[in-house]
Amino acid sequence: MGIKQIIAIASAKGGVGKSTICAHLASQFSKDFKVGILDADIYGPNQHILFDLLDSKPEVQIEDGNKSFIPIKVNNISLNSMGFVLDNEKAVMWRGPMLSGAIKQLKDLTQWGDLDYLFIDMPPGTGDAYLTVASEIKPNYVLLVTSQSKLAVQDTIKSKAMFERLKIPIIGIVDNMSYSISPNSDEKISEFTPINIENEIGLKVLGSIPRTKQLTDFNPNKSSIFFESIYNEILKII
Ligand SMILES: Nc1ncnc2c1ncn2[C@@H]1O[C@H](COP(=O)(O)OP(=O)(O)OP(=O)(O)O)[C@@H](O)[C@H]1O
Ligand SMILES: [Mg+2]
Repeated sequence: MGIKQIIAIASAKGGVGKSTICAHLASQFSKDFKVGILDADIYGPNQHILFDLLDSKPEVQIEDGNKSFIPIKVNNISLNSMGFVLDNEKAVMWRGPMLSGAIKQLKDLTQWGDLDYLFIDMPPGTGDAYLTVASEIKPNYVLLVTSQSKLAVQDTIKSKAMFERLKIPIIGIVDNMSYSISPNSDEKISEFTPINIENEIGLKVLGSIPRTKQLTDFNPNKSSIFFESIYNEILKII
């Protein structure tokens, strides 16, 4: 069976919540499916931190001189990250001329087994990592994450144009840190001057997520209610 579908979680803008959304979404999907996460952020891998696996390493297997990784399993999620392997294995595993080639190596050298969905946590930007992932890993879909900040929205418009050029279908947008919830009432407090990002960017908003501790305190055993409707929206499209 192998990997049925690959979904990249991306944004040109840094810090809008790609890694956080990727972890929560994978956790939501893992209730019904076999899921993997590939942390493709070479310069700032985060998934091993979110999953509280700072002291873990995937087992390295050598067969007929070929090395491969057994991904770390958390519930129904198989995880491999540049964060696990960059330092210790760098000299042995990552001699490729371009660091971005390491993303493909990490994907190819990992024994994912059968997966329904592999999520790729992308670094910010529109550069080499994106071109490598698009041309060599060939995701079936990309999910864009943005905030409503006008800077993030402009960057999301750039991301949209890039994925259209690369011919990778965009599932839609997650509107992250969209509002806060007042501690004294259930009132939603807008974080940004309201704009219609669906019109502005020209993509469907699959859901809006507040700025909340529930998101930062990721726990793979405890899913957040904010992802149920986004999960259903995604399943209607992919
Ligand atoms: N909905 C949210 N509520 C509260 N905090 C959030 C939310 N989403 C993300 N954060 C916080 O915002 C910061 C940036 O999030 P994250 O690292 O997931 O973004 P990113 O887009 O992956 O960043 P990078 O571009 O550096 O990879 C983190 O401290 C994270 O905990
Ligand atoms: Mg990130």
